[in-house]
Amino acid sequence: MTRRLGVLISGRGSNLQAILAAIDRGDLDAEVGIVVSNKADAPGLSHARAAGIATEVLDHRQFPTRDDYDAAMVERLRAHDIGLVCLAGFMRLLGPAFVRAFPDAILNVHPSLLPAFPGLDAQRQAFEHGVKLTGCTVHFVNEELDAGPIVLQTAVSVLPEDTVESLAARILVEEHRLYPRAIAMVLSGRWRIDGRRFVDVTSSFGA
Ligand code: GRF
Repeated sequence: MTRRLGVLISGRGSNLQAILAAIDRGDLDAEVGIVVSNKADAPGLSHARAAGIATEVLDHRQFPTRDDYDAAMVERLRAHDIGLVCLAGFMRLLGPAFVRAFPDAILNVHPSLLPAFPGLDAQRQAFEHGVKLTGCTVHFVNEELDAGPIVLQTAVSVLPEDTVESLAARILVEEHRLYPRAIAMVLSGRWRIDGRRFVDVTSSFGA
C-alpha cells in the first residue's frame, strides 16, 4: 500500500483538515494525493486547493449508472497512485466495483459507536434514542452501509444539558483525533483481519 491518501468529501471537510494537520505536525507519515468531491461547491475543496493538493469534482448526476461513477472514481484514484482511500463526509454509497478495486484499503469515519446508529444523522439518532454513551468509529468500507471491520472507536458521554448540536460538536473533536490515528495504524501494515475483527498485531506479545 502506498502512503498516498485519496480523500473523498461532499461538504465541510473538517476531517480532511484534521488529516492534513496531522501530516503537517509529523504525526501521520502520509501524503494526500488527491481530494475528490461529488459536489462542486464543497467547502472542503477550497481547503485542499489552498494546501496545494490536486482536487477533482466527480458529480454523480453526470454518470448514467453507479457502476460508471465508481469506475471513473477508481480511474482518478489510480491515476494519482492512491494506496488508501479515506471517506471523510462523502455522502454517496460506493458500489461493489469500487470496494473490490481497493480491497481492505477504504476507510470511513462515522459519528456513532457502530454498529449502533448507522446511516444518516447518527448523532441525532443516538441523542433521540437516549443513549448515555455514543462516539465515533473508523472502519473499513465494505459493500454494506457502515458495516466493515472496526479499526478504532472513541466513546463520548451524552450529558444531561446536551443538544444534538453540542453532542455532535464534541463527537467531531474526537473524530479529528481518531481518524489520523486510524490511518497511521492501517498504513503501518501491522494488523490483520480475523473474521470481522481488525487485530492490531503490534500489541500482541511475541507475535
Ligand atoms: C462527520 O461527522 C463524519 O463522521 C460524517 O460526516 C461528517 C463529515 O464532516 N461521515 P466533515 O466534512 O469532515 O467536516
